[in-house]
Amino acid sequence: MITKAKGCYDLYGKEAKKWEYVNNLLASLCEKYNYQYIRTPLFENSEVFHRAVGESSDIVNKETYDFKDRGERNLTLRPEGTAGVVRSYIENKMYGDNTNPTKLYYNGTMYRYERPQAGRNRELTQFGVEVLGSDDEMIDAEVISLAFNIFRILGLDVTLKINSLGDKISRDNYRKAIIDYFKPHINKLCEDCKIRLEKNPLRVLDCKVDHDLDIMKNVPNMKDYLTKESKERFTKVQKFLSLLDIPYEIDSNLVRGLDYYSHTVFEIEAKIKGSENKIALAGGGRYNDLVEALGGPTTPGIGFASGIDRLMLALEESKINLPINDSLDVFVMYVSETEKEFATTLIQELRMNGFSCDTEYTNRSLKSQFKQADRLNSKMLIILNDEDLKENRIKVKNNITKEEETVDLDYILYYLDEQLAGDDECSCKECSCDHENHHHEN
Ligand code: HAM
Repeated sequence: MITKAKGCYDLYGKEAKKWEYVNNLLASLCEKYNYQYIRTPLFENSEVFHRAVGESSDIVNKETYDFKDRGERNLTLRPEGTAGVVRSYIENKMYGDNTNPTKLYYNGTMYRYERPQAGRNRELTQFGVEVLGSDDEMIDAEVISLAFNIFRILGLDVTLKINSLGDKISRDNYRKAIIDYFKPHINKLCEDCKIRLEKNPLRVLDCKVDHDLDIMKNVPNMKDYLTKESKERFTKVQKFLSLLDIPYEIDSNLVRGLDYYSHTVFEIEAKIKGSENKIALAGGGRYNDLVEALGGPTTPGIGFASGIDRLMLALEESKINLPINDSLDVFVMYVSETEKEFATTLIQELRMNGFSCDTEYTNRSLKSQFKQADRLNSKMLIILNDEDLKENRIKVKNNITKEEETVDLDYILYYLDEQLAGDDECSCKECSCDHENHHHEN
């Protein structure tokens, strides 16, 4: 048997319906916030990621899928969305549109050569937003609140951690302090951190290997190295978050794994009831130097991305049922060839009039067709019969109330409409989320 590649997965059936529900919710929330959809290529010239995400990041160092195409070009499957969006912003001169800020969102697969485990895949799907052209603290709070509200609407119990990496002066001062602090203890650090201390010392702070070392307890605190302006900026971001009623914790060790950040950085984790388990749902931050680093005009930016794979895992572990619609309006049944021909045109008419509708395609007996209709959760059944058709009528059974009626063909659409009315009410009775905020696309 040929199997899927390691760290990938197939999506189908009920799980696919859940994804569809979540994707619709994300898109409709972005619309409310006035973010526009953007799609960038699955692969880019390698330089895009090497320059943006940074040579010292784990992602570029160990996790990218790099390859040469037949024309010997160096290409990379995108490990994240920000770099491609910024490349596109510059290449398409979106900054010239005079619509600052440019507010974009995306949803697509990313590729990282990681060790697969629950919620960590090599082909992963990220939903994310990027805002380019505003340095206002209010937009930092908007981006964070968008992320936070997604999880809140879905009913997850989440924690938001924020930090500020400050401006360049703040980071330079802090970097120096970190090097001075760790230098005498360098032998205690893991091999990766020995290199990080040279290339990107801040990353030592979020090393999972060295996390529990004693020397990690008294590490200099970022906030003591922020310039006055950076400190004021961070305070303002917090003020706007409070205005939006977004609870947060300040985590001064939060530095993030990508090299492009400045000022605000944040991460959101899901807490799972009755378990120590926490799931990293989203991360992001401000990147005021990235547009310039990729060859564009000086333009501030901020964004975040959330792993949909992780989000689904968190929903499942939190036992949150999504109100997905896995039923069918009408199933059309027949036996004879003339009934079959009639079914062919009837289902088309029903579908064109907005009913979800299916029929029999494998020569099942009438008895088995009833079973098939149940398997498909069909709410209404149409049982065709040559005698009825001669009289211009058809037999319809409500598969929920089990009531059966013979209906004049001219009235079938009205009849079905009436029978199915009220079905698009909120169906999330068993769902623990905030009903009012649900978006039903029934
Ligand atoms: P990131 O922290 O590398 O940031 O990834 C964001 C989210 O993607 C993580 O919080 C996690 O939910 C999900 N994720 C990451 N790796 C995997 C994986 N192997 N399997 C499943 N899910 C994963 C970024 O990618 C930045 N581009 C975020 C950003 C946007 N910053 C500014 N704008």
